Amino acid sequence: MSYPFQIKTYEEYQRAYKRSVDDPEGFWADVASSFSWRKRWNKVLDWNFKEPHVEWFSGSKLNITENCLDRHLLNLGNKPAIIWEPNDPEEHHRVLTYRNLYDKVCQFSHVLKNNGVKKGDRVCIYMGMIPELAIAVLACARIGAIHSVIFGGFSAQSIADRLQDAKAEYIVTCDGAFRGAKDIPLKNVIDDALIACPFVKRVIVCTRTRTPVSMIKGRDVWWEDEIKKVETLGLNHFEAEEMDAEDELFILYTSGSTGKPKGVVHTCGGYMVFTAYSFVNVFQYTPGDVHFCTADIGWITGHSYILYGPLASGATTLMFEGVPTWPDAGRLWQIVDKYKVNVLYTAPTAIRSLMGFGLEPFEGTDLSSLKVLGTVGEPINEEAWHWYDEHVGKKRCPIVDTWWQTETGGILISNMAGVTPAKPAHATLPLPGVQPILVDENGVEVTGNPAAGNLCIKAPWPSIIRTTYGDHERCRQTYFSTYENLYFTGDGALRDADGNYRITGRVDDVLNVSGHRIGTAEVENAINMHAGVVESAVVGYPHDIKGQGIYAYVICQDMHTDESHMRLDILQTVSRIIGPIAKPDKIQFVSGLPKTRSGKIMRRILRKIAEGEKNNLGDTTTLLDPSVVEEIAEGKL
Ligand code: PRX
Repeated sequence: MSYPFQIKTYEEYQRAYKRSVDDPEGFWADVASSFSWRKRWNKVLDWNFKEPHVEWFSGSKLNITENCLDRHLLNLGNKPAIIWEPNDPEEHHRVLTYRNLYDKVCQFSHVLKNNGVKKGDRVCIYMGMIPELAIAVLACARIGAIHSVIFGGFSAQSIADRLQDAKAEYIVTCDGAFRGAKDIPLKNVIDDALIACPFVKRVIVCTRTRTPVSMIKGRDVWWEDEIKKVETLGLNHFEAEEMDAEDELFILYTSGSTGKPKGVVHTCGGYMVFTAYSFVNVFQYTPGDVHFCTADIGWITGHSYILYGPLASGATTLMFEGVPTWPDAGRLWQIVDKYKVNVLYTAPTAIRSLMGFGLEPFEGTDLSSLKVLGTVGEPINEEAWHWYDEHVGKKRCPIVDTWWQTETGGILISNMAGVTPAKPAHATLPLPGVQPILVDENGVEVTGNPAAGNLCIKAPWPSIIRTTYGDHERCRQTYFSTYENLYFTGDGALRDADGNYRITGRVDDVLNVSGHRIGTAEVENAINMHAGVVESAVVGYPHDIKGQGIYAYVICQDMHTDESHMRLDILQTVSRIIGPIAKPDKIQFVSGLPKTRSGKIMRRILRKIAEGEKNNLGDTTTLLDPSVVEEIAEGKL
């Protein structure tokens, strides 16, 4: 497979960038030409950020799975599409060639159809990292159903909220999932979620852990039985549904500054073009390379750079079921060695955690196949960057620091491996087609370099968020109303003298814990659900491994139990309501919170205290009761 849009030199990057700004429609039409369309577009781009309304490749018809599977069959049919490494290194790995994957996606498309799923229906997928997860996602796309993958670490309550918001009537899940030493009972969690979701018609359950599960007559069916039925009927090829470029491909829920996660919607055409374009260019993918992204498919990184980007490029993508530190901290290096991985894409939190194990886990592993390293999800500190460079890349592999978001669908700011210069802790330059600007508090552009400000994007790229599911006004308010005619990212950034961007982190009430996005309001709501809690306030604080930790200040009515039990009960409540990923790292019981006279909590002060900067709290004179601050600052955890 060749990539006519691949940029190979810095000069080509500069030329491509200029053209993408001067003539975006011509630029993207050229890129899109190398994909397979059933019908070409009438217009490349139609947009305004006021409503917002963004339409790419309108009038065109395609199916993304024909681009990810069918078109590769002739030349790449026997090449590995997915290499799957199980949680337990003793278990056999699996390799699915493009032909195998195509066959299995067709089969499961028949299964979905036989179970009543139609174009436009929402299908919730709650599975561990096994090939059947990829198959389920692609089968949804093939039949035109909208998939909504939910990460295995979310609770029944979170799943129920998402099912209700998406009005999803179909679920694909597993009996359980293996993750490190843990065995997560996925189907049980789904059963709990479904108590609040009587509208769910069908649950397809794939076998993985063989944990006992309840199977409800008329609602629950086994994946394997359904496949057998399709085989008995001799059903093979499944004719892909013809989709409009702007038909919805998937919904992915993400946290914002309000209590309720929102369903970010991506559509078929633009998402396909941009994920493949960015995949090939950022990682400088060469046919035959093995690409290993360690994310979970429950997050956007897994959607775009384990599945759609690599598969649309005919790449070999490695899917790993487990975690980097089990059974030991050498697991990732052993995988790199075993499959001769060429590109390794992971999160700073994983790097920092592995740094803590020293160099012993590298012993006996050969990492010489690595060509490119990548990071994503949070700012990478220089120490972690240098460790990654020295001990993993042996100073021969460019590191791409890729900045993007669930809403952007693909990488927007990053160096391109070996093509544009890297700078430690800097995402560096925008990809062609991406026009970032920095603005001050009033929305006035900060020009010149160096500069600092809030990061916005001036014009749409093909995989920009189209709406928030079921609530377009929320999309407008969240991203397009803060600054007129700009997409606001929620991040702050610096720009150095050479125009390189350094993302400094969220400027809103969103935390980034181990690269997972968690809203402070969401955690507060969950804490406040505890019967003994009156009020709470949650802030982030710097955490050596997680990047940010969660610090909760909690006011209790009366302690029926001692503090340590109360703490554990609160953690359990948060686990139940959101999931274990949102459990606070620290809980401080307080008798009041610092509020302004209008009743607003002054988080700035709480943040300073959580950061340990108790002597530098700034102006507290506008507080209703400044004495509260002293009590909190002196308080113990
Ligand atoms: O704050 C930025 C941070 O992660 C946020 C997006 O989170 P999410 O939608 O979960 O997507 C994560 C994976 C794309 C951003 O607003 N972020 C992501 N990548 C970087 C980053 N911060 C600094 N540097 C990055 N490379």
